[in-house]
Amino acid sequence: MFITFEGIDGSGKSTQIQLLKEWLERLDHTVTVLREPGGNVVSEQIRQLLLDSTEHIEPRCELLLFTAARAQLVSKVIRPALKAGHIVICDRYIDSSVAYQGYGRGLPIDDIVRINDFATAGLIPDITFIFDLTVDDAAKRAGFRSNDNKTKPDRMEQSGDAFFERTKQGYIELAQNANRNIFIIHAGDSMHDIRDQVETIVGRFL
Ligand code: ADP
Ligand code: TYD
Repeated sequence: MFITFEGIDGSGKSTQIQLLKEWLERLDHTVTVLREPGGNVVSEQIRQLLLDSTEHIEPRCELLLFTAARAQLVSKVIRPALKAGHIVICDRYIDSSVAYQGYGRGLPIDDIVRINDFATAGLIPDITFIFDLTVDDAAKRAGFRSNDNKTKPDRMEQSGDAFFERTKQGYIELAQNANRNIFIIHAGDSMHDIRDQVETIVGRFL
């Protein structure tokens, strides 16, 4: 089973992924947790380029780099893990490209879907959770607006509030248009409430 978590930065995805992993392992499942971009040597190198670069990266180049990292991850790690019977949980997947590069940067959605279909050879998640939170609350949680400046925003996080508003809205629209198992989670709820919702939904698919 392939499960993906989506939502703007700071919406609480990693927290719930960890809780879901622990729950599934208590039920004796083997779980592989991955993050995008990353999860293998080549994709982590592409991640550095995408997040740490001080150079301007053109939207089309950005899309292709995220998608290239995904192609490597799918082929090298996700498909083998699924074949071995693992439950694979991925922190972001194709919907991030649709939301960030499509709705956020303004690239055509159809092209993004087509390029990603090629890159992943058609691998689609069994379950997707979209964490919906206001841009303001997410930024506060992610810490990149705090005065102490402990957390320095990465290149994507420097894209501004209007970009994240479009991205957040993009997630809602893509969920409404999709013909697969996508669940919108009200990410302003408590960690425990969200954990219960996620476990109930995943439990139905086990
Ligand atoms: P993401 O992976 O989406 O960037 P995180 O899981 O890292 O988000 O969460 C960002 C911050 O918000 C963390 O400090 C985390 O402890 C906190 N957090 C996560 N979920 C909740 C929640 N439901 N309520 C309040 N704070 C939360
Ligand atoms: P990361 O720190 O992993 O995300 P988060 O802050 O949610 O924990 O950073 C990944 C960044 O890359 C994040 O800003 C979303 C962005 N991204 C895209 O723009 N397109 C994509 O296809 C993917 C996978 C990520």
